[in-house]
Amino acid sequence: MTHRIAVIGGDGIGPEVTSVALEAIAAAGADVSPTEFDLGGQRYLRDGTVLDDQTLTELRTFDAILLGAVGTPDVPPGIIERGLLLKARFELDLYVNLRPFQLADGHSFTVIRENTEGAYAGEGGFLRKGTPQEIATQGSVNTRMGAERAIRYAFELAQARTRRHLTLVHKTNVLTFAGDLWQRTFDEVAVEYPEVTTAYQHVDAACIHFVEDPHRFEVIVTDNLFGDILTDLGGAVAGGIGLAASANLNPDRTGPSLFEPVHGSAPDIAGKGLANPTAAVLSASLMLDFLGDAECAQRMRAACDAVIADDAVPQAGTDEIAAAILARVTQPHMTRQ
Ligand code: NAI
Ligand code: MG
Repeated sequence: MTHRIAVIGGDGIGPEVTSVALEAIAAAGADVSPTEFDLGGQRYLRDGTVLDDQTLTELRTFDAILLGAVGTPDVPPGIIERGLLLKARFELDLYVNLRPFQLADGHSFTVIRENTEGAYAGEGGFLRKGTPQEIATQGSVNTRMGAERAIRYAFELAQARTRRHLTLVHKTNVLTFAGDLWQRTFDEVAVEYPEVTTAYQHVDAACIHFVEDPHRFEVIVTDNLFGDILTDLGGAVAGGIGLAASANLNPDRTGPSLFEPVHGSAPDIAGKGLANPTAAVLSASLMLDFLGDAECAQRMRAACDAVIADDAVPQAGTDEIAAAILARVTQPHMTRQ
């Protein structure tokens, strides 16, 4: 069955890495029909469109969305992030943000970030804006339903892993209301998964362990803001931002899920042929996995792993890395190490 994919290349290096991902999908032999959507900072600068309701309705009809990166320096912060990325996450109910990391020694761990609530819900406002008495509040929305569905997804994932180990990361000692809700929910759901061993870490301590002892982690579940920061750190300890992939999942499949590299549009290197396309290819691999094409997904992942491990491949240069990945995707017998 052909998978209909909406493709949002976006801005900066977004289209550069997304085109490599599409080539890799084709080379792997996946049955995918892509449709391009012109969205992002450049589109906004041209006609003021961010993500209109008609386009959103159209996106809902696709099996998945593949995104490069959006955002340009000329657009004030917040407009594209809130109007496109967060709107898609909220409207399509992409409540799980899954980010896998693989260390050079082979150890892998996965962060499950709650993706629709917390500090990103947009609760808050100004009072007396622009005066010396100005007040800004920025709330954090935590619902039992929202925490529980992310936590349940993480337990299911941990259950299927070798060590069956799940760590809750929060800041329960200071964020005593949200932290209490998360910890209680976690403990209650844990009873249903007796085979999964659990741990808890404060987010600041987790940062130390990400750098000094990432082997202690297998699956991590955390809230939206902590997950955002922790996964950038995860990218840094696992080979750099050019390798970090992510999936924004609607596990109930009431709409399309969205797959994108963790990195942004990188205006500093856009158009120079320096963007590493690996994160985009790995994100496309997560997409094929979610759509049920495990074979092509594995072929693409194995090709990326082989290229990352191959010292003969220069780790800079979009074309060089792309060629190395594509050569291995199309020759599956060479991808087994
Ligand atoms: P960024 O991820 O675009 O860049 C950070 C640094 O990493 C830069 O030095 C860049 O050159 C480098 N880098 C990023 N991806 C790379 C790759 N594939 N290969 C090699 N080097 C790479 O983050 P930054 O600079 O904070 O944001 C730039 C723009 O991207 C902003 O407009 C921001 O809002 C947007 N953004 C969009 C995201 C998305 O579409 N999901 C996520 C993060 C940022
Ligand atoms: Mg981030």
